[in-house]
Amino acid sequence: MTTNQLRETYLDYFKKQGHEVMPSASLLPENDPTTLFTGSGMQPMVPYLLGEQHPKGSRLTDSQKCFRAQDVEEVGDNRHTTFFEMLGNWSLGDYFKKEQIPWMFAFLTQELGLDANRIYITCFRGNSELDIPKDVESAQLWQGLFLQKGIDAEIVDQPEEKGMQGGRIFYYDETKNWWSRAGVPSKMPDGEPGGPDSEMFWDFGESLGLHAGSVWKDELCHVNCDCGRFLEIGNNVFMEYKKTAAGFEKLAQQNVDFGGGLERMAAALNDDPDIFKIDLFDDARMVLQDVSAKQYGDDETETYAFRVILDHIRAATFLIADGAFPSNKDQGYFTRRLMRRSVRFAKQLGVERNFCAGVAQAFVNVYQHAYPELKEKEEEIRSQMEKEEKKFRNTLSQGLKRFEDLVKDLDAGSVLSGTDAFDLYQSYGFPIELTEELAKERSLQVDMDAFEADKAKHQNTSREGAEKKFKGGLSDHSEMSVKYHTATHLLHIALRRVLGDHVGQKGSNITPERLRFDFSHSEKMTPEQIQSVEDLVNAAIARDYAVTWQEMPVEAAYNQHVIGVFPDRYDDVIKVYTVGDPGHSGNANPEDPTFSREICGGPHVEHTGILGHFKITKEEACSAGVRRIKGILE
Ligand code: ALA
Repeated sequence: MTTNQLRETYLDYFKKQGHEVMPSASLLPENDPTTLFTGSGMQPMVPYLLGEQHPKGSRLTDSQKCFRAQDVEEVGDNRHTTFFEMLGNWSLGDYFKKEQIPWMFAFLTQELGLDANRIYITCFRGNSELDIPKDVESAQLWQGLFLQKGIDAEIVDQPEEKGMQGGRIFYYDETKNWWSRAGVPSKMPDGEPGGPDSEMFWDFGESLGLHAGSVWKDELCHVNCDCGRFLEIGNNVFMEYKKTAAGFEKLAQQNVDFGGGLERMAAALNDDPDIFKIDLFDDARMVLQDVSAKQYGDDETETYAFRVILDHIRAATFLIADGAFPSNKDQGYFTRRLMRRSVRFAKQLGVERNFCAGVAQAFVNVYQHAYPELKEKEEEIRSQMEKEEKKFRNTLSQGLKRFEDLVKDLDAGSVLSGTDAFDLYQSYGFPIELTEELAKERSLQVDMDAFEADKAKHQNTSREGAEKKFKGGLSDHSEMSVKYHTATHLLHIALRRVLGDHVGQKGSNITPERLRFDFSHSEKMTPEQIQSVEDLVNAAIARDYAVTWQEMPVEAAYNQHVIGVFPDRYDDVIKVYTVGDPGHSGNANPEDPTFSREICGGPHVEHTGILGHFKITKEEACSAGVRRIKGILE
């Protein structure tokens, strides 16, 4: 079975169990300002796990593209990757443990034909302080399924201290068998959903692990130890809790959030713990072997470099297809860092000519059916890769020479100055992490505080330049954008009047075509509420209020009930825009002399009358407790 077939088999299996097959969401979350990348299949599902109705029903399945930026430097061993596909199935208040566990067992042992003797399970031990019970039900369900295969699966506790103890099903605490976006229960913010989970592991066999006998680093080996014998292939999260100020509370519905590592399942099918040997990497590995004239697996250091490059170029290919072009900020910075890191590791393989686009093409070919966006963006991927690689290669050799110069007189343990690190960043395009890695290889440190200070100084200088050009908060000062900016103020206060004072701005984005406004509010707006908000905004436009601004201390703005994002410093002087008469508070009542007062840098129109007619075109969930509105002026 190829990995592409494995993905299809999974989706087909859950389709047969009544699930709707969903396309993968983008790696760049559209509706979640809290994170740069989609890092798990459940991320786009949060509002529905919390109770919102999903338009496709209560049983969903997908294979979600994921990127975990925090893992960049972990890559190089046989199992870590930054990009991966997470197979997912969800019950949104529909089925629960007694359906999920048998389905998962049947999928692994019948659909994939994995040997049940090689599958191990973990469940949640329970925690009385959190008032969450031991997950006996899951452990017993698994035990019954193994028994049907003639396997006497013993359930044991405390594996960390006592090792395997001949067991197959193990209880662990919340550091291993609890899942939420924030991690363990103590890290979860109020309102965050989470729950106990039950994980499945594949046993590659004692001989493939790094331990001697059943001991690893003088400790007894168990399924969650790091020796390499066991690999987690999937996680069934029973998401039925919500964190509150008073502790954990049951959600109104019991959810299942399953996440399975596609590549890891393929490695289990291969019975080879090296993820980079699954077929999805075959062609890319061959391209790299051709350009380097080196063989994967021949030499440890070179194999490490192969893995870094294969992982990074694959991730960059998917990131570019989703719109994160190499750049110095936001998501694009990661694409840049992945590519530059690849080029540097390729140097270790002796590759001195451009190779990134060739490796990327191999990934486009193998993934194009599952992810058609790669084929659609083929040209863009190629040109972005070529451009970025060329740019970096122009300075890489000189930069490395410069680095050698800078460190040649430094003894192990000493510190490379922030100014030098900033010079490598600014003049030679070295991402700071690259400089840190090079320094680490020589047992040196980098003065990161001084680097950050230099960078901030530089950014301030360029920002001042930009401010002179733009004079205000809007990046584009076309007449339409300015109108949308004023309309956003009218919308903000109108939302507060209709929905309540809990509404606050969470994000705003303006183009000459539309406004987009994110605000705190947890329920979907009713058609009546949308209508009332539109009516208020249009009444304010019809009244043709004057728009003016004043500067005032933060304290005065508080006292005058001005809305907006207040700066931290209480003694700052800020600019306040008023729609209407600055002598009154704004409360979105078009009968009153003042409609709105808000902290803002501007610019705005002089009179609301020129805005035209306002219409909300979309109202949707954005992230937990945040809604998003798109609106136009007609
Ligand atoms: N959301 C769970 C995970 O990412 C399935 O492991």
